[in-house]
Amino acid sequence: MARGLQISDEESGYNKNLFCIPKHYEEDLETVFIPHGLILDRTERLARDIMQDMGSHHIVALCVLKGGYKFFADLLDHIKALNRNGDKSVPITVDFVIIKSYCNVLVVEDIIETGRTMKALLSKLKDNEPKMVKVVSLLVKRTHRSPSYRPDYTGFEIPDKFVVGYALDYNEYFRDLNHICILKEKAKEKYRI
Ligand code: HPA
Ligand code: MG
Repeated sequence: MARGLQISDEESGYNKNLFCIPKHYEEDLETVFIPHGLILDRTERLARDIMQDMGSHHIVALCVLKGGYKFFADLLDHIKALNRNGDKSVPITVDFVIIKSYCNVLVVEDIIETGRTMKALLSKLKDNEPKMVKVVSLLVKRTHRSPSYRPDYTGFEIPDKFVVGYALDYNEYFRDLNHICILKEKAKEKYRI
């Protein structure tokens, strides 16, 4: 179980003025934490690692909505490219957390913080006796609250900071942001419901 690209607690990210950010979010963000290009590059390698491990059986890719949809779409694009260009290829179908009988299941998550949601989903999935279940999470947060759950594949391991963008939200806002960014504390007030 690889721990993913480690981003240290001291990392503060990049100057947001050096990136393209939607005007409506400019004042809400501290820094760009994981630029969109880096997310895609890391996702390409995750796709390769996953396909090497998952064998030749039909795979159901299960998207955990809503935060997982960007990562899910990009990960599947890379997996499809491997299927087009490699010596072997595996049929993939998609689903969106509707539980039924599966062959091989790849659960695609945006972020794992406490692991509680994932543990609950996996115990539900077990009732359907899937052949193999693998979990890939784009982000895993290092927090003292975290129990021991670790996904099979991790994109980035990040410090205990609240991040938004690339479909990760704060009260439904910021999903329409390409980069993963650190939210300013005062923006939490602005978008509080
Ligand atoms: N951002 C968005 N959603 C989340 C986070 C986060 O940092 N942690 C858990 N869910
Ligand atoms: Mg999620």
